[in-house]
Amino acid sequence: MIRYIIYIVYIALGCATLLTQQSLAASPGRYIAELGDCVACHTQSAEQPLAGGKPFPTPLGTIYSTNITPDKEHGIGSYTAEEFIKALRQGVAKDGHHLYPAMPYTAYAKMSDADLRSLFDYLQTDVKPLPVANKASDIPWPLSVRWPLAIWNAMFHDDERFQSVAGKSDEWNRGAYLVQGASHCGSCHTPRGFSMQEKALTESDEHYLSGSELDGWYAPNIRGEKYDEQALIALLKTGRSQHLSVAGTMAEMVTHSGQYFTDGDLKSIAIYLRSLPPVQEEHTTQTVAKISDEGKASYAMYCSTCHGADGKGSDYIIPALTNNPAVLESNPASLLNVILSGAATPATKGHIPYSMPGYSQIMNDQQIAGLLNTVRASWGNKASEIKAGDVKKQRAVQHEKKITP
Ligand code: HEC
Ligand code: HEC
Ligand code: HEC
Repeated sequence: MIRYIIYIVYIALGCATLLTQQSLAASPGRYIAELGDCVACHTQSAEQPLAGGKPFPTPLGTIYSTNITPDKEHGIGSYTAEEFIKALRQGVAKDGHHLYPAMPYTAYAKMSDADLRSLFDYLQTDVKPLPVANKASDIPWPLSVRWPLAIWNAMFHDDERFQSVAGKSDEWNRGAYLVQGASHCGSCHTPRGFSMQEKALTESDEHYLSGSELDGWYAPNIRGEKYDEQALIALLKTGRSQHLSVAGTMAEMVTHSGQYFTDGDLKSIAIYLRSLPPVQEEHTTQTVAKISDEGKASYAMYCSTCHGADGKGSDYIIPALTNNPAVLESNPASLLNVILSGAATPATKGHIPYSMPGYSQIMNDQQIAGLLNTVRASWGNKASEIKAGDVKKQRAVQHEKKITP
């Protein structure tokens, strides 16, 4: 009963903030900008869309995304189509300076010239020019010189366009084109090597999309049949499926990008991902999580109202905690972020967000570990043990990456 009252409160709260985001998918270039999620990185304040200024902390210092509105002085108003394509395919700006690969040109390189041209036309003609000056990076000289990026490109960057794979269906090829190119799923989901390069850019290598940590969140392995087709489509479009939901940087991706994908493109993406041979997830000799009395008590007190005493949640509203990859993942970064800071399903057109409170102030590291080990060992779940030290470490990561409720 209490659960249903809570849902109704949600719905009432949600309606008040219902976002009336609309896709002007009428313009083909705008759809490509949505597939590429340009807004998410190139917007710092909602009043100045695409005017840049969003900080990207790197080990050397902070760099800022740039103004890509058609303003002639501060934006890309003076770029020609060829110069724009060079920036997106090779990571070289109009004046010849190399871009940091925080701008995912390593993925955009796979896009067709036709798509890049219509993206350019959209940015030049349909976007409002905003006279917002670019911010200089605070990387100190001599680390701020950009020529080493040319060496990085020579070592790791392949600017070849996507090539259709013979013998695969049109849908598969469309899915591959989107995942590798505009939608750059690998920039979060593919593990990185010693120079921060993605270890693989196509399915030809089994590291591709096999799971990685970025910005304090763990983006899981999404290869193979781990998620069924319907779940993948629903997760990308609305951030929730019958039993699962997304949080963190993935929720942002759904709000700014995934929700606008056409049903055909979502299906193609699901077909492509599900065709990738699964990789053996690393099973080190970690100890297995165990149920504890304290953990059970915490669960009953703080979680069962919403997720249910049986951990089954409620279809499409509260994710299930049974058989949920986000709960069972050996890397607990995203799971801990959700418990410590809370989370909300993304706001998408026609869908109100459902949220969960954070528990960082209410439970100490030991209690959170005990609770999560109980969840990871109940109702048929089987996963590795989370230690109090993992919780402590993630609190520090949250502080550093400014992950707040
Ligand atoms: C993950 C974040 C991210 C995404 C997504 C992203 N960008 Fe960028 N982009 C950046 C950053 C950061 C820079 C600045 C890099 C630097 O200064 O070296 C940049 C720079 C650029 C530049 C160079 C402009 C100049 O003259 O300095 C262009 C053009 C550009 N982006 C276009 C796009 C377009 C078009 C999209 C969508 C298809 C896009 N970006 C998506 C992060 C992103
Ligand atoms: C900006 C980084 C980022 C990008 C880009 C991104 N993801 Fe994710 N993704 C994540 C993170 C982080 C998670 C884990 C979120 C969580 O645990 O709720 C995730 C989770 C997922 C999940 C699992 C959801 C669940 O509930 O277990 C799927 C499926 C997924 N992503 C697919 C994709 C696909 C397909 C693309 C490209 C179209 C993509 N992602 C692009 C960061 C990203
Ligand atoms: C007020 C209702 C509510 C309470 C109380 C609550 N949750 Fe949640 N929980 C949610 C909602 C809604 C989501 C989806 C949030 C999202 O996707 O970002 C969620 C997401 C999660 C997820 C991520 C699942 C996924 O598929 O990514 C986990 C794990 C989780 N909750 C565990 C817990 C635990 C453990 C507790 C108790 C400490 C708890 N929740 C308390 C509503 C609640």
